[in-house]
Amino acid sequence: MGVAKRVFQAAPILLAMAFAAGPSLAGNLATFKSVDTDLPTGERMFQGPGSDAINNNCLVCHSAGMVLTQPPLPRPTWQAIVEKMRATYKAPVADEDVGPIVDYLTRIKGIRTP
Ligand code: HEC
Repeated sequence: MGVAKRVFQAAPILLAMAFAAGPSLAGNLATFKSVDTDLPTGERMFQGPGSDAINNNCLVCHSAGMVLTQPPLPRPTWQAIVEKMRATYKAPVADEDVGPIVDYLTRIKGIRTP
């Protein structure tokens, strides 16, 4: 988590430096990919395989960090949380995105239930 946070904080500074240094360097740095994509707990965005649906649907109102600081939960509880986001908070999550989001949460923050 610490590494991911540092990389995130450094990125805008690097970009600002790159733009100050001129368009060619800026172009090079803008295409530079962060090296922390394997860490499961980026602070602002969800990381890793299967994270597209959750990044597209769940970051409008709160950060990934807020979700990732929840304790590990069984799949039905994650399912219920996603449903609560839709029903109570009117999160605009398409039906077809619910499964991939619950899959992702169960994979990175799940508890196997017997
Ligand atoms: C429309 C705004 C909105 C969207 C979109 C949204 N949430 Fe939330 N979420 C909230 C609010 C409001 C809370 C309650 C915050 C509080 O209690 O401080 C919350 C709380 C949570 C919590 C804390 C546990 C709980 O039950 O309160 C989790 C986990 C969570 N959201 C996950 C998600 C996930 C996963 C998605 C994507 C499917 C999502 N949220 C999308 C508004 C949203």
